Amino acid sequence: MPKLVNFLLALSLDLFMKSRAIDTTSSIVCFASYCGGVLIRYPFWQQGNTTSAGKSCGYTGFGLAYSDDGRPPILTLSSDTYYFKEINYTNNTLTLIDTDVANQTCPRASHNVTIGDLPLSYRKLVKNLTFYFNCTAYPSALSHIQCLNNSKGKRSYVFEEGDEASDFDWSMNCEDKVVVTVNENEINGASLSTGFGVAMNKGFVLNWETATPCAKCEISGGNCGFDRVNNVQTLCYCIDGSIITDGTKSCKGMLT
Ligand SMILES: *[C@@H]1O[C@H](CO)[C@@H](O)[C@H](O)[C@H]1NC(C)=O
Ligand SMILES: *[C@@H]1O[C@H](CO)[C@@H](O)[C@H](O)[C@H]1NC(C)=O
Ligand SMILES: *[C@@H]1O[C@H](CO)[C@@H](O)[C@H](O)[C@H]1NC(C)=O
Ligand SMILES: *[C@@H]1O[C@H](CO)[C@@H](O)[C@H](O)[C@H]1NC(C)=O
Ligand SMILES: *[C@@H]1O[C@H](CO)[C@@H](O)[C@H](O)[C@H]1NC(C)=O
Ligand SMILES: *[C@@H]1O[C@H](CO)[C@@H](O)[C@H](O)[C@H]1NC(C)=O
Ligand SMILES: *[C@@H]1O[C@H](CO)[C@@H](O)[C@H](O)[C@H]1NC(C)=O
Ligand SMILES: *[C@@H]1O[C@H](CO)[C@@H](O)[C@H](O)[C@H]1NC(C)=O
Repeated sequence: MPKLVNFLLALSLDLFMKSRAIDTTSSIVCFASYCGGVLIRYPFWQQGNTTSAGKSCGYTGFGLAYSDDGRPPILTLSSDTYYFKEINYTNNTLTLIDTDVANQTCPRASHNVTIGDLPLSYRKLVKNLTFYFNCTAYPSALSHIQCLNNSKGKRSYVFEEGDEASDFDWSMNCEDKVVVTVNENEINGASLSTGFGVAMNKGFVLNWETATPCAKCEISGGNCGFDRVNNVQTLCYCIDGSIITDGTKSCKGMLT
């Protein structure tokens, strides 16, 4: 028994040391920089800065467009642009603000939030808001968004997703439906039809996960990368400076 306990202890210590080693080195392999006060590093990367000969370090789809006017960098999700406002590399969270709504008191959301197949996920602490714009008919008792009043008497509404009156056909009576995501703590208490603009300006938090083709590379202490020509996640940048390109995706000598 003691032997087994010792063995398990040694094993967990070994794994602990290795995971620590990976934590401290993962930022070294790929280039890191600041933009708009936000530290950008792996798996995110600066668009237009190829590491070498058309290769980039990071996840495809996690490239950020930098600006030089002090604004945060911009992430594009299925052709919609978001300010990359905040990132926490410890708990893998990032905060995005739709560039269309930033600094507007009465923003008119123009698109759904679409994550697509990027390794991003919604957190439990967010809520979706459903907008119906320019409705020609509407249930009379509900409060509408006054700042989006229309000269032709059409009205616009916002609800927590699923809270709209279900016995009314919104899609039939309104010109457009848009679903956006906000942080839950920004909408509690406030009346949505007046408070939605402030909530949207605070943005929303997402998590990111290890991209599936990058798991082996990251476990072996490397940073994943890709060839810009084919845009496929096949490279691995290793701590020893080597770049694995042959698809084995694992750095040598890190794991036995
Ligand atoms: C691009 O990345 C390199 C490091 O790989 C860095 O030295 C350089 O300053 C970056 N270029 C720009 C334009 O940020
Ligand atoms: C995670 O990161 C976010 C953004 O920086 C921060 O607000 C939050 O407090 C952090 N911790 C947890 C447990 O979510
Ligand atoms: C990131 O998240 C961790 C864990 O929740 C937290 O301890 C830390 O303060 C956060 N850092 C920043 C810069 O928000
Ligand atoms: C919003 O306004 C503030 C101050 O009015 C400014 O500092 C910030 O850059 C603006 N944000 C955007 C995304 O334009
Ligand atoms: C918000 O909508 C997205 C996309 O439809 C969905 O994946 C997510 O689960 C929704 N979040 C909540 C809190 O309902
Ligand atoms: C409603 O329709 C009018 C005219 O078609 C348009 O100008 C306006 O932007 C629309 N409002 C909303 C909130 O979509
Ligand atoms: C919007 O229209 C409603 C009536 O439909 C009216 O009571 C309200 O004052 C209008 N608000 C603005 C900002 O024009
Ligand atoms: C947004 O998503 C909803 C389904 O959740 C869909 O009915 C609506 O047409 C979408 N709106 C736009 C502008 O794509």
